[in-house]
Amino acid sequence: MDLKILVTAGDGIGPEVTGEAVSILKEIAELGGRDFSFAEKRIGGVAIVNDGAPLPADTLAAALESDAVLLGAVGGNEFNALPPDKRPEAGLLQLRAALGGFANLRPAFAFKELAINSPLREEVVAGADILFVRELLGGLYFGQPRGWNKSEENGGGEAWNTMRYTRGEVARLARIAFSLAQKRRRKLTSVDKANVLEVSQLWRATVNEVAMEFPGVQVEHQYVDAMAMHLMNQPRNYDVVLTENLFGDILSDESAVITGSLGMLPSATIGGKVNLYEPVHGSAPDIAGKGLANPLGAILTGALILRHSGGLEAEAAAIEAAVRKVLEQGYRTPDLARGNTAGLTVLSTKEMGAKVRETVKEQLLAPSR
Ligand code: NAD
Ligand code: IPM
Ligand code: MN
Repeated sequence: MDLKILVTAGDGIGPEVTGEAVSILKEIAELGGRDFSFAEKRIGGVAIVNDGAPLPADTLAAALESDAVLLGAVGGNEFNALPPDKRPEAGLLQLRAALGGFANLRPAFAFKELAINSPLREEVVAGADILFVRELLGGLYFGQPRGWNKSEENGGGEAWNTMRYTRGEVARLARIAFSLAQKRRRKLTSVDKANVLEVSQLWRATVNEVAMEFPGVQVEHQYVDAMAMHLMNQPRNYDVVLTENLFGDILSDESAVITGSLGMLPSATIGGKVNLYEPVHGSAPDIAGKGLANPLGAILTGALILRHSGGLEAEAAAIEAAVRKVLEQGYRTPDLARGNTAGLTVLSTKEMGAKVRETVKEQLLAPSR
């Protein structure tokens, strides 16, 4: 078996977009005579409804036995009244914790062809190429204590969460981020709130210590509020952006503005027992089931599986090149066709998946290879 992949498609547009990613991975396996296996398990809202829990035991067991997990998205409006530990999102957080990956890589690349779709000026965004390295197992998401005292004292309730990091948690992530920066443009921007938070002061001090191990990488620090602005003003100024869990969640969605759509962003989580792969976007209840979802984020996530779990760099690059080619040819899902649509062909989720699949096939069968 070359690659054993568990697909947890989840809710909303999750099954629509992972379906396209899987069909491309299957095509690649067939073309290269490789043995990829795909199993499917429930997670999120669909698991709450069918199994009574957002992360059923058999899903977790299958995930731990696989080489890679591809997750679609979890969540739905019908679960909004549930407490955090009962919601679909809890299933994803439990899965992340169990798989142990702490380094969430979120590349945000502005394809020149999509610059027109960004509300930012083309000369500001075109060619921007940022790799967010988001801490995924700590901070406010997992810090203790957390809770909600619903008693009538304090005027009807008090709730709290804790942003907590150890030096070791920051250092192990920073080492991954610096190593990645070394192979890219050798610039690392660490984002924190060290003007207010002790946890950010520890973060900054630890990043500076790790920086000494990587003298070839230029390091700078930004406060998260200013960074939110700089990212929009001069996205091409950034290479690797290292940050904690919640800041990374927010900044990576913000970077969707640079890439043209949230539906363009892939991610890979490494450093644990089994790597977890997810497009950055959520279940998009507003467009679910209509064939409107952009599958390119999920398809590019498939490329990351091949690169980080399969060691198949050429095949990963072929997917990325195919996405670029399809965009060059003017094919778009509706989220990518908001500006000037002259000369563009708007496709459904499945049609876009099929275009990329055909193009990957052409690339891999091309005589020059
Ligand atoms: P969302 O990412 O689902 O959607 C935000 C906006 O972007 C929506 O207008 C949506 O239509 C659009 N969008 C997202 N992905 C798209 C795609 N592939 N193609 C075209 N348009 C796309 O965020 P939300 O609406 O804030 O959250 C909806 C649910 O998803 C919530 O329950 C949230 O907790 C969950 N969520 C899950 C994940 C995950 O499972 N990894 C990530 C983020 C949000
Ligand atoms: C993401 C999502 C998740 C997160 C939620 C659904 C738990 O927003 O992957 O960006 O906050 O990490
Ligand atoms: Mn998010």
